[in-house]
Amino acid sequence: MTSTSLDNATELKRRIASREARIGIVGMGYVGLPLALLFSEERFQVTGFDVDSNKVEKLNSGDSYIVRIPGTEIQLARENGFHATTDYAAVSQMDVVIICVPTPLNEYHEPDLSYVTGTVRSIAPHLHEGQLIVLESTTYPGTTEEVVVPLLEQGNAIGLRVARDIVASGFYVAFSPEREDPGNDTVARRDIPKVVGGCGPVAAEMASEVYGTIFARTVRVSSPAAAEMTKLLENIYRCVNIALVNELKQLCMRMDIDLFEVIDAAKTKPFGFQAFYPGPGLGGHCIPIDPFYLSWKAREFDFRTRFIELAGEVNLEMPYFVIENVVEALSQQGKALCGSRVLVLGLAYKRDIDDLRESPSLTIIELLQKRGAHVEYNDPFFPTVGKGRKYVLNMTSTPLDRVPEFDCIVIVTDHSQYDYASIVSRAQLVVDTRNATRGIDATNIVRC
Ligand SMILES: NC(=O)c1ccc[n+]([C@@H]2O[C@H](COP(=O)([O-])OP(=O)(O)OC[C@H]3O[C@@H](n4cnc5c(N)ncnc54)[C@H](O)[C@@H]3O)[C@@H](O)[C@H]2O)c1
Repeated sequence: MTSTSLDNATELKRRIASREARIGIVGMGYVGLPLALLFSEERFQVTGFDVDSNKVEKLNSGDSYIVRIPGTEIQLARENGFHATTDYAAVSQMDVVIICVPTPLNEYHEPDLSYVTGTVRSIAPHLHEGQLIVLESTTYPGTTEEVVVPLLEQGNAIGLRVARDIVASGFYVAFSPEREDPGNDTVARRDIPKVVGGCGPVAAEMASEVYGTIFARTVRVSSPAAAEMTKLLENIYRCVNIALVNELKQLCMRMDIDLFEVIDAAKTKPFGFQAFYPGPGLGGHCIPIDPFYLSWKAREFDFRTRFIELAGEVNLEMPYFVIENVVEALSQQGKALCGSRVLVLGLAYKRDIDDLRESPSLTIIELLQKRGAHVEYNDPFFPTVGKGRKYVLNMTSTPLDRVPEFDCIVIVTDHSQYDYASIVSRAQLVVDTRNATRGIDATNIVRC
């Protein structure tokens, strides 16, 4: 006799409550690894899946490859039964599988879902009844229903279907966006509410049950598409507001007004204003990328997302604006950029993290080199840097005692361990794109 969704849901709930449920996390990156550790801390047996065998080996040896996660946390998880594998066959032993793989843009600035589809195709043959599959990767509304569900249904040989109600049998599917803010320690991960949207109410309930064990609050929305859109709204809100202050910074510079002073004054308003800060351009896996997932999808509905496009235009221009300021600052000292020695401070896309994906520093270094500057960098989080999908640097971090040798120091990432007063006092010229030198009164600083 086939079991109904009610039987399966009751059993999955019981296994979650008793911590017998086995949790598989696919993609052991910045999102998946911390999530795996949270479940492990909560006494679940966790398996980490990744196609990168180096990561799998490191994890199984109790080592970490993410700076803010110490090896001791991996070792503790190992003692609680956590292990990693490249073998998808182990999916068949999982009660819950959570997908945290990359969702980048391709060279035409369109969604690249190949990591998601590759993962789902690998999972499908190992599906079993009553299993819960959750997508966490940021993506456009419709991905879970239009891409994930069909691949799972077509890819299993035993004809399993999504169980959308309490009488159906099959497996459950949900979407739950990741809300991590790397480097932000003001809110404990557990206290960030977790949004979930299921393919049907039972899937939503199951996703809520499992996340409810590691998050203080779950927020259920009516569908995976609503959950997918929630994540995009959050990131578009940031992208548009950052573009607004980036544009206002350029105006304020012409008007000789300090925008940082203005923002500090505005944020004393107890309602209706949230502070965003200008910078040298967007970075990271989310803000520069996610909004374009929606712009792309909107075209299917004959709709242009003009705010997103305008914000993208302003933010993409920022590294060029920095270069203009470096050129101008050097020329004020009677020097040309071509042939000058420039030290870029900070490769990471934001303060105190070890992630350089989409970092504006990469564009700034490339533009400086194109204009004939001799460029070096310093970043305590990257002693060396090789090549990535969009850059080839092959450089080593320059020690800060060599600051006086450079014609210009460009502060791109305001890591908190830099001693800015000392850097300014030894530098010939400092171009500060982050207001990191705030409060330091010196004639060799150009803030932009
Ligand atoms: N990093 C963040 O701060 C953050 C915040 C919110 C949301 N997100 C979203 O979460 C998702 C994951 O981001 P991330 O930063 O963890 O990426 P990441 O690149 O750090 O990690 C992804 C991991 O997935 C692995 N992988 C790729 N294809 C695979 C496959 N077919 N099977 C198994 N493993 C595979 C990679 O080897 C890598 O280890 C993205 O959609 C991203 O937009 C990231």
